[in-house]
Amino acid sequence: MSTSKLIVANWKMNGGLSANQLLLDDIKAGWGAVHCRVGVCVPYPYLTQVQLLLAGTPIALGAQDVSIHATGAYTGEVSGSMLRDFGVRYCLVGHSERRQYHRESEVDVALKARQALACGITPIVCVGETLAQREAGETDSVVKRQLAAVIHENGHCISEIVVAYEPVWAIGTGRTATPDQAQAVHAVLRAQLKAATPQHERVAILYGGSMNTGNAADLLSQPDVDGGLIGGASLKANDFLEILHKASHEALANPMK
Ligand code: 13P
Repeated sequence: MSTSKLIVANWKMNGGLSANQLLLDDIKAGWGAVHCRVGVCVPYPYLTQVQLLLAGTPIALGAQDVSIHATGAYTGEVSGSMLRDFGVRYCLVGHSERRQYHRESEVDVALKARQALACGITPIVCVGETLAQREAGETDSVVKRQLAAVIHENGHCISEIVVAYEPVWAIGTGRTATPDQAQAVHAVLRAQLKAATPQHERVAILYGGSMNTGNAADLLSQPDVDGGLIGGASLKANDFLEILHKASHEALANPMK
């Protein structure tokens, strides 16, 4: 329920030095009238490059994961304070690809959110059901359980998180949740946040899963859809810019949302 929409790019494991530069140069060149908040979550090795490319722009830098540990003998891990050193403002936690391929548990996700918060980084907590869970009528209970773990661990600062509803069956499949399906789950998450904190209106709830230029406006016009987490379409400057412009229009059309 933030005043302006928040659109976050998740580049996943894509990019390279020259591709990143081209993409961000094109986005900066086509910026025009963007009136929404914007972030880009990039692979770790490119944090310095992208930090420099984003200097002086309103685009916030993001990472895609963070360790559950603060420091120490954890080979291959990256801590929240290291991310902070590179000016990281947002960090994805609990993306379904990490829950699925790296066996991240709900407790891991909650601890990652905690590390991010402790370092002044906004965790973007991803929740979402698989197709089998949706078909079994378990969507609400799955996303509530995923969010509950994060609330349990981070109760006192839960208003500082961002939530992203990403139905697993919609990610990278071209099959998007309908605006009604997205709104229904966002309303469930909103109610859960409301019960957890009087400051629930500070928490943006993003939709992610095959959001593109064709469906962004309808999804973003839903009352509890506060923005988007964009995968594939964020790798094409023109598509990403069009989504930013649609989100800007939506925020201007409905300033109270
Ligand atoms: P796609 O937009 O490619 O479906 O990816 C969504 C996503 O997983 C963003 O985190």
